[in-house]
Amino acid sequence: DRTSDLSGKSVLITAGPTYEKIDPVRFIGNYSSGKMGYALAEECASRGANVTLVSGPVALSAKSSNINVVSVESAREMLDECQKVFPTSDISIMCAAVADYAPANPSDHKIKREKQDVPTITLVKNPDIAATLGKEKRPEQVLVGFALETDNEAVNASEKLTRKNLDMIVLNSLRDKGACFGTDTNKVSIIRSDKSRTDFPLKDKSEVAGDIIDEILKILGKV
Ligand code: C5P
Repeated sequence: DRTSDLSGKSVLITAGPTYEKIDPVRFIGNYSSGKMGYALAEECASRGANVTLVSGPVALSAKSSNINVVSVESAREMLDECQKVFPTSDISIMCAAVADYAPANPSDHKIKREKQDVPTITLVKNPDIAATLGKEKRPEQVLVGFALETDNEAVNASEKLTRKNLDMIVLNSLRDKGACFGTDTNKVSIIRSDKSRTDFPLKDKSEVAGDIIDEILKILGKV
């Protein structure tokens, strides 16, 4: 019975982009809409899970009352919030498009346009949330990542799965029409830790979420 197959389970999901402050009015960000992460949260809630959705800035809201939305802005804040709930999460799905770098010294006043010089923004590396949780993961916990690749898709995605200690990675290729930032559809492949792979056709993001959760349940059945 799909409507209760996650009952009693706690699920952590990250979604959306992160914004990394340059000054009080500017940031470094990306085009992630958060739609895939929110669809996953609704799917898990509809199957009886308690969901914590750690969300970067998006134009979406969660519908189910079983979803606790924790709004964050930066990668650092997203990591801090994830670490609070990860120890008690049965399933964690890293769907956010986390910015790789953040300004080293965000200005506390608006940076003025210079008459001559173009400002230089020095960047520092952001923490890798999935990899950090991967190091803390216990054997009975399931950790799932996403990979957006433009070339050498399967090899790059499998390498990420190993490096971040994931149990499964969902690959979406930018080559596929309709599988892009902001769209309502997605075309994914799922790669498991034994490197076996399943390719799914282009579907609505809510149906993709159902396929992903079905796969996670198969892994949970084995641990
Ligand atoms: O290394 P890459 O960014 O391609 O990895 C993508 C996967 O890792 C996604 O699951 C994403 O949510 C996660 N990630 C993360 N923290 C980062 C970068 C990526 O959790 N700083």
